[in-house]
Amino acid sequence: MRTQVAIIGAGPAGLMLSHLLHLQGIESVVLETRSRQAVESTIRAGVLEQGTVDLLDQTGLGERMRREGARHQGIRLAFDGRQHRIDLTELTDRAITVYAQHEVLKDLIAARLAAQGQLYFGVEQVALRALDSDRPQVHYRIDGAAQRIDCDFVIGCDGFHGISRAAMPGGLRQDYTRVYPFGWFGILVEAPPSSDELIYARHARGFALISTRSTGVQRMYFQCDPAERVEQWSDDRIWHELATRLENHDGWSLKQGRIFQKNVVGMRSFVTEPMRCKRLLLAGDAAHIVPPTGAKGLNLAMADVCLLAQALESLYRRRSWRRLDDYSDRALQRVWRAEHFSWWMTNMLHTRRDSSPFQHRLQLSELQYTVKSRSAMTMLAENYVGAPFPLM
Ligand code: FAD
Ligand code: DHB
Repeated sequence: MRTQVAIIGAGPAGLMLSHLLHLQGIESVVLETRSRQAVESTIRAGVLEQGTVDLLDQTGLGERMRREGARHQGIRLAFDGRQHRIDLTELTDRAITVYAQHEVLKDLIAARLAAQGQLYFGVEQVALRALDSDRPQVHYRIDGAAQRIDCDFVIGCDGFHGISRAAMPGGLRQDYTRVYPFGWFGILVEAPPSSDELIYARHARGFALISTRSTGVQRMYFQCDPAERVEQWSDDRIWHELATRLENHDGWSLKQGRIFQKNVVGMRSFVTEPMRCKRLLLAGDAAHIVPPTGAKGLNLAMADVCLLAQALESLYRRRSWRRLDDYSDRALQRVWRAEHFSWWMTNMLHTRRDSSPFQHRLQLSELQYTVKSRSAMTMLAENYVGAPFPLM
């Protein structure tokens, strides 16, 4: 098979890239190891930056998000028994939208298939070859049969555990990593919303987050040991832990319901540089990971492929390599901003077993300053809603 752009992975990065390329008349093939059903049902992110929302809207994918997603103009920081509102819209003129990642993926897959896009699920043994040449190849198997794609570019959108990053020459690649000594225990609950805005809470026992999915389904998280096993957590124990961490003097209370999903995720910061070598380019989690506290991962993936689609368009339409040559540097500027913000939010809100009373005091002082100073609130708000994406 021959195509212009071979895309490895049908997550947010891979699917959005193939959608953007299609709108520009550039042909692509997407290969995904998981089934469509698995891709469409894996529960992950929930917060879309304004840039992601605008991108979905401008490319014809915003309809269900507008109907079923919820636009939030603020978030709350909770500590010392009080909640403090950060008015994102007043401070930045922008907002976030809560709409689950797997719903975005369903919309993208439906659009790609409706446009007769070449999207293959359940592929195996994906291998990248001839990356040094002008005509790279992707080898894989589907339904037991060996297949090969000849293409102009390979885009690695295969997440943190994919194969593409490892195909970058070792001597060229520089990795930056930080693994945090905690994870997030996430639950999905059948209950009405406990709050009309997200609550990020800091408590001596650890971080907790109240988020939402719809009027009937809520998403909540609390800091746990990264090796924590979900079987060790009965529903009662979970509710007790969340209620303790969210205790307050504001009269606010947590609405409980039937817990129908529990999972634990580890937390790391990771960046690989550069994000391009010749005709292999990386986008999204394949190149960088942030701890979830800043809600940046999916949004960074979308921003990367926005840049990439523009770079490929300018090559195919105007024969100019300039934007492809600049891709890694431009993408990494946004990546490092998000890395810093996510690391900062994580440190401000999570507690460590080995932290001293001195460190606790510093953390509280930082939170107090963050909710009192307009400059500090603006800094948080600007980073949380995200900078505008490069215009398509
Ligand atoms: P992925 O979504 O990981 O997609 C990669 C795809 O490639 C996968 O489908 C995988 O099966 C496939 N693949 C892997 N290997 C191969 C191979 N060899 N061949 C072919 N296909 C392959 N981000 C936010 O912006 N906001 C949030 O609120 C937020 N909350 C989060 C909460 C949690 C609990 C977690 C875990 C993450 C959260 N994130 C959030 C991060 C976000 O989910 C990720 O950053 C996002 O999924 C990255 O998209 P991606 O397309 O780069 O990678
Ligand atoms: C959600 C996830 C996040 O990482 C975050 O910071 C806020 C909300 C969510 O899944 O709803």
